[in-house]
Amino acid sequence: DRSPIIAIDGPAGAGKSTVTRRVAAALGLLHLDTGAMYRAFTWLVLNSQVSLDDEARIAELVSQADLQLSLSDHPDVPVRVNLNGEDITQLIRTPLVTRKVSAIAAQKAVRQKLLEQQQQWGEKGGLVAEGRDIGTHVFPNAELKIFLTASVGERARRRQREMVTQNQETIDFEQLQKEIQERDVYDSNRSIAPMRKAPDAIELVTDGLTIEQVIEKIVQLYRVRF
Ligand code: C5P
Repeated sequence: DRSPIIAIDGPAGAGKSTVTRRVAAALGLLHLDTGAMYRAFTWLVLNSQVSLDDEARIAELVSQADLQLSLSDHPDVPVRVNLNGEDITQLIRTPLVTRKVSAIAAQKAVRQKLLEQQQQWGEKGGLVAEGRDIGTHVFPNAELKIFLTASVGERARRRQREMVTQNQETIDFEQLQKEIQERDVYDSNRSIAPMRKAPDAIELVTDGLTIEQVIEKIVQLYRVRF
């Protein structure tokens, strides 16, 4: 018997990362950040001489890539990402990677390779996995599926606060809202594994809820089942 898997999907900025990390810590599970994997390949492409729409060259690049993750069970420790021997944990969080990731994540070879790697992590279970297609494609048999959303305005406000606390370069609010919306549209309309709420997922709209309330709710949903 494998240990349980919790799938947490939803659009950018809905609070998935914080919620996933803290739910995992509360339940003694590892957290798998699949967005970090798409970001890693985006960083790879941006740092090569290959154009973002050259799918054949990108397929070649990713087939040769060695992507290693070290998952954590601690809420303050994000996944460490190593690509071809280089630690790129910080480098995958830049605004440039964020702007380009959806175009890379839409490509077949990229999704195929990462799907296999994600499903390997799932063989033993004991994971809270976050992404866009976890409940629909990666782990369709997950024990609990959550679809986490919030209004675009709320998500942009949260992102802006996050950038300020992390001393990141800040982006104008209108611009941030526009970028979040563009990424939603792109991620929901691609042909392979678009972002969707799985039919058996529980939708949580987090406008007006604190992070603590959201975490509490998911932990409760898990505990009534196990
Ligand atoms: O969650 P995060 O913002 O890091 O995800 C970055 C991007 O990676 C998403 O906008 C999406 O294009 C892609 N992604 C995906 N499928 C996943 C996780 C992320 O397509 N399971």
